[in-house]
Amino acid sequence: MKRVAIPISGGGSNMVELLKSMTGDHPARACVVLSNIPDAGGLAKAEAAGVPTVVVDHKPFGADRAAFEAEMAKALDQYQPDIIALAGFMRVLTAEFVARYQGRMLNIHPSLLPKYRGLHTHARAIEAGDDIAGCTVHEVTADLDDGPILGQARVPVVAGDTPETLAARVLVQEHRLYPAVLRRFAAGDRSPLIFEDAEP
Ligand code: GRF
Repeated sequence: MKRVAIPISGGGSNMVELLKSMTGDHPARACVVLSNIPDAGGLAKAEAAGVPTVVVDHKPFGADRAAFEAEMAKALDQYQPDIIALAGFMRVLTAEFVARYQGRMLNIHPSLLPKYRGLHTHARAIEAGDDIAGCTVHEVTADLDDGPILGQARVPVVAGDTPETLAARVLVQEHRLYPAVLRRFAAGDRSPLIFEDAEP
């Protein structure tokens, strides 16, 4: 049984869907939910699901990213994770931290990578006049929002979309895609999973 650590920073809606999916003959189970934000809403959801939680507040470390990440790695490693599934985790990770978990750390990003790495992905897609948006699950490498693509779901952009309406439509697909990709990844299958186009 693979052990999955899930770092979050906010409401953790993706984390909740991952937890819900890891049952029965699923080859993985959550071992810990970690947050860098002490009052992240997702922490209570993880506790309600009976999953251990840990907070490593990044603020006291200021600009010392390496010191924060050393604490985060120490906290994670106490739970002996096989896989790290970043889910709405909003800290950029250094190459050193990534190297510790390279090949077994995933992230979900709300765009069709390689388009729109970084933030404000939905606003940028709307601004560019794109007809299609979506989300990507990828292996985490030292380069931000880069790394081998493990899954993608495409979502139509409709006239009048705002970043909020598009984000909501993409989030529905994130909640389908991430659990499906994690299950395959935990079973040793790294072939990309491409979902058919979602309804508008
Ligand atoms: C989602 O758009 C996800 O793609 C991004 O963070 C947002 C919130 O995720 N990584 P969650 O609800 O905290 O899982």
